Amino acid sequence: MLVTTKKLLITARAKKYAVPAFNVNNLEFLKAVMAAAEKMKSPIIVQTSEGAIEYAGIEYLSAMIRVAASGKVPVAMHLDHGKDLKYVKMALANSYSSVMIDGSSLPYSKNVAITKQVVKMARAKKVSVEAEIGALAGIEDFVTVEERDAKLTDPDEAAKFARETGCDSLAIAIGTSHGAFKFKGNSHLDIDRLKKIAKLVKKPLVLHGASGVREDLKQLAEKHGAELGKARGVLDKDIKAAIRNGVAKVNIDTDLRLAFTAGIRKATDEKPKVIDPRKLMRPATDLITEVAVRKMKLFGSAGRI
Ligand code: G3H
Ligand code: 13P
Ligand code: ZN
Repeated sequence: MLVTTKKLLITARAKKYAVPAFNVNNLEFLKAVMAAAEKMKSPIIVQTSEGAIEYAGIEYLSAMIRVAASGKVPVAMHLDHGKDLKYVKMALANSYSSVMIDGSSLPYSKNVAITKQVVKMARAKKVSVEAEIGALAGIEDFVTVEERDAKLTDPDEAAKFARETGCDSLAIAIGTSHGAFKFKGNSHLDIDRLKKIAKLVKKPLVLHGASGVREDLKQLAEKHGAELGKARGVLDKDIKAAIRNGVAKVNIDTDLRLAFTAGIRKATDEKPKVIDPRKLMRPATDLITEVAVRKMKLFGSAGRI
């Protein structure tokens, strides 16, 4: 059934688990994460970025996700990182149950203004709104403490922002970043900062850039020709700490990409005579399902339906 993220996330925060939010760009990724949700009896957020919409077309994506949501699993259809209002309007016109407005790179007042505008538009359609405050970056990216404080989410500012905008959930920056190269040194999140934010903001919090970049998948991809160098992700123990402290939505894209790419590389290497793409994509898709299943166990969303 198609549900809002508000509904999923309020329950998740109260019960101290997190709903996985997986990025999809095509049928294979969508079917793979849905297979995991059905197997693990987990609610799920299926999200598409502006890039996904440009790649696949919003009509195709929303039609596929509607089919995915026609069964028993609660599915939220979410716009990830809406920066241009054009995409928010497209999502609202195409049955999305949730949108993110990402004004995190704007000055505070402009972020508030655009978020309030989206909240107003979304309310009319009973659609949930995720907003963001703070800039995603690895903690070692900052040379000084002052610099770090200026970029990572400030707890008081987050509380003010949540109040002023009326958003339903809030993405925060505590040291994660997007992609496969998250940390220059050891993996580390600012959990003390998260604790302070969670004390002041009672709405569900969202962790972006949360992929773990699993060593075995990295090695599998590299064995078959990928070059991933010092790719490094967030540790499982830090994800658990974040969920214990108010994070109710965890965004995963890179880990699915890594699994699929490793699977495709292996299949094309090992089956040079195969030209049926279905036979090459099947094992890669299964690897995504395996990754998604592990996330549902880690986030505590398994068995919640
Ligand atoms: O947060 C970004 C997501 O990983 C989506 O990436 O813009 O390449 O689709 P994308
Ligand atoms: P990862 O790159 O860590 O998978 O983060 C994805 C994300 O935050 C999508 O919004
Ligand atoms: Zn993100």
